[in-house]
Amino acid sequence: MLKKVSLLLIVALLAVTALAACKPAAVATEAPVATEAPVATEAPAATEAPLVITDTELNVLCTPQEEWCQGMKQEFEALYGITVNYVRMSSGEALARIEAEKDAPTFDLWWGGPIDSFVSAKAKGLLETYESPNFVNLRDPELMKDVDNQWVGVYVGSLGFATNTDWLAAHPDAKAPTSWDDLLKPEFTGQVMVAHPSSSGTSYTALATIIQIRGEEAGWEYIKQYAGQMASFTKSGAAPAKFVCQGEAAVAIVFSHDTVNEIENNQCPLELSFPAEGTGYEIGGMAILKGAKNIQAAQLWYDWAISPEGQSLGPIYHAYQAPTINGVELSHPELLDVNLIDYDFIWAGENKTAFVDKFTNEIANAENLKQ
Ligand code: G6P
Repeated sequence: MLKKVSLLLIVALLAVTALAACKPAAVATEAPVATEAPVATEAPAATEAPLVITDTELNVLCTPQEEWCQGMKQEFEALYGITVNYVRMSSGEALARIEAEKDAPTFDLWWGGPIDSFVSAKAKGLLETYESPNFVNLRDPELMKDVDNQWVGVYVGSLGFATNTDWLAAHPDAKAPTSWDDLLKPEFTGQVMVAHPSSSGTSYTALATIIQIRGEEAGWEYIKQYAGQMASFTKSGAAPAKFVCQGEAAVAIVFSHDTVNEIENNQCPLELSFPAEGTGYEIGGMAILKGAKNIQAAQLWYDWAISPEGQSLGPIYHAYQAPTINGVELSHPELLDVNLIDYDFIWAGENKTAFVDKFTNEIANAENLKQ
């Protein structure tokens, strides 16, 4: 028996060495041959070979903030020796691009942006199934992973308001909003800024939150009034915090971690507040795209992005979203310690196209979005 195992061990070693010698084995060092080999009595060494990665590049559609996209690219390249090409696009733009390119996709993997858009992409048949061994790391697999393994959650963030404190000082009777109704106050007319839901997942989270809190009829009635309060609509979800920081409007509706970034790293005069009756939140998603050319590299990123190593990188790149996996500390736990609604991501994703069309056609078109 011992002899048989040793023989298989040698065969396994030779097979892996031979394969590794002729390929740019980015992760061959990650696959501990010696510990894998005894199992070879059950599974011949050849079936272990997929651990040798042949892809030399990975094309990522990246939806979070640019700095984090750039940081993740560099970290992944340093770790695995695979070149990462990425393009930063807001959720709605990303979804439109993936759909337009479905027969010849440019991108292998989509990382980040609220899962509502991933739910919508799945319904359009644009995503690949992948069962990652790292799903075991997820804090709440039922909520944070697609039932058919077509998307997974990579971060969590709550929606909030960012108010310019210089503006507040100049308007002593005004207070930072603490309810959705506060946004409709006369002092905020023409002073609120949010992205457009057709381009931005952040803005769609706000729209779907309101409809979930108020119901369709009252929700849309409110959204009409809320749209009338806007100074302008931006293309990207986090941009309103930057414009409000510069004093272009009084209040931004953005994810709370984006406000924290502006306050802590860009010295912005902003006050963070939340609607007391409830706010929505995002689970940032990730998926391999149907037709991906670099599938092994995409799977490698996928596993890494739901590992403690991958998920502890955010704060280094000023991204303060909460992790979706166990074993990583939250940089700003207070951002989730607010009144979160029981946001229905599947409902929000399945209604995304219809709700965005209604908003664009009946309330505010998507022309000339502020960048
Ligand atoms: C920002 C946030 C992310 C969010 C993303 C959505 O980058 O930090 O947490 O997922 O916006 O982008 P979008 O432009 O689609 O609103």
